Amino acid sequence: MASAARSASRAFLRSTPATSAFRPAARSARYALSSQGFRTAARRGYASEAGSSKSSNGLLWAGVAAAGAAGAFFFFQSGDSSVTSKAFVPTQEDYQKVYDAIAKKLVDETDYDDGSYGPVLVRLAWHASGTYDKETGTGGSNGATMRFAPESDHGANAGLKHARDFLEPIKQQFPWITYSDLWTLAGSAAIQECGGPAIPWRPGRQDRDVAACTPDGRLPDASKDQRHVRDIFYRMGFNDQEIVALIGAHALGRAHTDRSGFDGPWDFSPTVFTNDFFKLLLDEKWQQRKWNGPVQFTDKTTKTLMMLPTDLAMIKDKEFRKHVERYAKDNDVFFKEFTDVYVKLLELGVPFTSKAEDRYVFKTFEA
Ligand code: HEM
Repeated sequence: MASAARSASRAFLRSTPATSAFRPAARSARYALSSQGFRTAARRGYASEAGSSKSSNGLLWAGVAAAGAAGAFFFFQSGDSSVTSKAFVPTQEDYQKVYDAIAKKLVDETDYDDGSYGPVLVRLAWHASGTYDKETGTGGSNGATMRFAPESDHGANAGLKHARDFLEPIKQQFPWITYSDLWTLAGSAAIQECGGPAIPWRPGRQDRDVAACTPDGRLPDASKDQRHVRDIFYRMGFNDQEIVALIGAHALGRAHTDRSGFDGPWDFSPTVFTNDFFKLLLDEKWQQRKWNGPVQFTDKTTKTLMMLPTDLAMIKDKEFRKHVERYAKDNDVFFKEFTDVYVKLLELGVPFTSKAEDRYVFKTFEA
């Protein structure tokens, strides 16, 4: 049996109706915004956008200040005649409630893409973090500056409005959490809820304003080769093994012509986190797709899957390939090494006052 078909049947066995149905039909035109519409919408911003004011009646979020390792959050409640301040120090239990709300929304809202927002949440957490520059200490997940143009309009971030909008009601429900903590917590939850490994996570990120937006060009360009991939990821402080492990996240999700211009999923179970990306990279024959779009590759067996030029660089380059082979052979090794490097990614540039051993491991929703 062709390896692609083997992966498909395994994926089917693993499937649960809520998370892993491969449903191209669900990709309705509703999600295909025109680029103009998308750009306008992307500028709309959120509750904490610079210059926006939501100070009418009732609960007024006049400011959120974190103090100390645990993060004490002060907020101000405004009534008709008085303003009182309260200190709220969220505990692991409070963050677990945020996790549960995200996980429940993932289960409830399956009418999107292949049946889950999980993949696009992973991509949001990665793009929020992957702007880090170790030389200058700028960028990274501390800030959630993708709320603002110009960063929200950077080509690499096209489509991530879906993820930011998905999380907005959660932010409203738990106003004490920063966007930067919320987006990374969602990135951890999405991996876990898609059947991946436990991703330890800790709070401590502060939102920053538009002035902290990073310049365009810090995220990788999928049409380039291994030299570019190394330039981008070495700038963040990753080595070759870590780069390969991270790109294994392409087991999840798909490319969209109205976002990146590329098209299709990497494997047959795009809502289930596995090492299938590596297996298919090695087992399939990848041919250049003949189409009116950017150069991408398709599997010879079914012609329904795709690889980006940067994905194929993972087997063209000898150093990278070594790790692709290790991960294709052993899912446990992949899960272990992915966990370590993904935790590192989500923490790039964050001035934690807590210790690494104080990270939380969240219970999965149905556990
Ligand atoms: C060389 C490095 C990388 C390149 C060039 C790259 C490029 C891309 C592109 C072009 C897409 C399609 C976007 C769309 O059209 O919706 C995509 C999707 C995705 N990427 Fe990457 N990526 C890279 C690394 C990573 C890493 C490190 C992660 C996470 C750790 C990641 C996670 C994802 C996920 C989950 C999706 C699917 C999103 C969805 O289904 O909406 N990628 N990537």
